[in-house]
Amino acid sequence: MNLRDFVKVLRSRWITVCVTTLIVVLGAVALSLLTTPMYQASTRLFVSTTSGPSASDIYQGSRFSQERVISYAELLMGQTVAQRTIDKLGLDMSSQQMQDNVTASAKRDTVLIDVSVLDSSPVRARDIANTLSDEFVAMVRELETPENGAAPDSRVVVEQRASIPSDPVVPETARNIATGLALGIMLGVGLAILRDVLDNTVKRRETLEELTGAAVVGTVPLDKERRKQAAIAYETDNSGIAEAFRKLRTNLQFLAVDNPPRVIVVTSSVPSEGKSTTAINIALALAEAEHSVALVDGDLRRPMLHKYLDLIGSVGFSTVLSGGATLDEALQKTRFAGLTVLTSGAIPPNPSELLGSQSARNLLSELRGRFDYVVVDSTPLLAVTDAAILAAGSDGVLIMARYGQTKREQLSHAVDSLQSVGAPLLGAVFTMMPTRGSASYSYYGYSYKYESEDGKPQPRTDRQTSQRPVAHDGSSTTPKVGDSRADRPQPTGRRRRQL
Ligand SMILES: Nc1ncnc2c1ncn2[C@@H]1O[C@H](COP(=O)(O)OP(=O)(O)OP(=O)(O)O)[C@@H](O)[C@H]1O
Ligand SMILES: [Mg+2]
Repeated sequence: MNLRDFVKVLRSRWITVCVTTLIVVLGAVALSLLTTPMYQASTRLFVSTTSGPSASDIYQGSRFSQERVISYAELLMGQTVAQRTIDKLGLDMSSQQMQDNVTASAKRDTVLIDVSVLDSSPVRARDIANTLSDEFVAMVRELETPENGAAPDSRVVVEQRASIPSDPVVPETARNIATGLALGIMLGVGLAILRDVLDNTVKRRETLEELTGAAVVGTVPLDKERRKQAAIAYETDNSGIAEAFRKLRTNLQFLAVDNPPRVIVVTSSVPSEGKSTTAINIALALAEAEHSVALVDGDLRRPMLHKYLDLIGSVGFSTVLSGGATLDEALQKTRFAGLTVLTSGAIPPNPSELLGSQSARNLLSELRGRFDYVVVDSTPLLAVTDAAILAAGSDGVLIMARYGQTKREQLSHAVDSLQSVGAPLLGAVFTMMPTRGSASYSYYGYSYKYESEDGKPQPRTDRQTSQRPVAHDGSSTTPKVGDSRADRPQPTGRRRRQL
């Protein structure tokens, strides 16, 4: 993973990093709040020895004191002085508990010993530190006084007594939070990288092309507006998603130029990958270019087109197949110029059988005769065979993969199922591509072209929408001068209009 990949991972998985950091920091705060505050009181002891008047006596005395302080520090943390302190103060604790909270350290090359006592009560911490020091002074006197009652060789004085500490030393809230922050960020970044390594969803154009063996002909951005209104109002809309569909339309018409596909099935591997929404908007994009388009709901199990387009759902594909209505009766004009819809009709008990029937093939070929394009929405390939059946009878299939959701093996199996029925795969389409973060494509760059300097939308011209289309082999095809629908083979010959 190079730096660029690393930044990409961070940008796409910033939520993981932030949430992990937040959790660890909150943990550090909770730990600080739950920790009993401990106060520290300190005393300082001075060790001196009796020495002769000569310089060498003084030097030796000083050396003797320095050697003594090491042992004294050990004794200060020992059981005897702890027990004497407990007895003196009448405390309800074991000597071991007190020993655990006493630290004595001798400063190198000095005759000073620092004694620190930790306790949950600031007053008791001070009392223990002072009493312990006093007890130790007495203990040293006892230990160092020779049996003959002569003056002790060494004595200890409490040079600095303890006072009541004002602030607790434990917990160190600021330090805990800073440590939590650093740990949280490291853990978050680690998790983000791990998730990225374990992520087997389709996110890269190359992966999509590799798995499908077809060119990526479109990338549809995630647009929350589509959840409220599936159909794009192309007359007024120059947003990123509208441009993405125009681009898809352009690419579609460059596919198989010698035998342009006119009955196009839109499918995907699993549910909710944006098939219906994409089918509607491909149909509308083609209608915007003044083609006559029939949009057929080939999903006879969970039909949605009538809901998304506010049409009647009870009469449609299945009704015509069962002889309940003629095609003319079932076709519904829409509020969009050039778009006619055949909804699913009543949900039949045997959708696969119905879609595989000769009547279904006849119906599609009749639609092909009447319209420039027939766009068929269908079911997910891995769920049921309906889509594969429809695909086999179509001119070409567009397979959707939802960015960051469709798993690689799902897509491979879906493509296998298309290949097993010999369905011609036209291309792959990324759906619901995030428009922010690492995944985003600069769709909005296209929109700028239609805006004047004051930001107002400009009338869109056909030439402006023509981008470099993707050829079927995945390579980029540069449109030639004067390249327009008028210059290329037309689906029906009835309409010869520019894109
Ligand atoms: N480009 C998009 N941006 C945002 N939301 C989208 C987009 N495309 C589709 N959606 C939403 O995703 C959900 C599923 O979309 P849709 O019904 O088109 O998928 P589907 O593949 O046809 O599902 P099913 O397999 O159930 O038929 C819907 O709520 C739809 O509004
Ligand atoms: Mg659908």
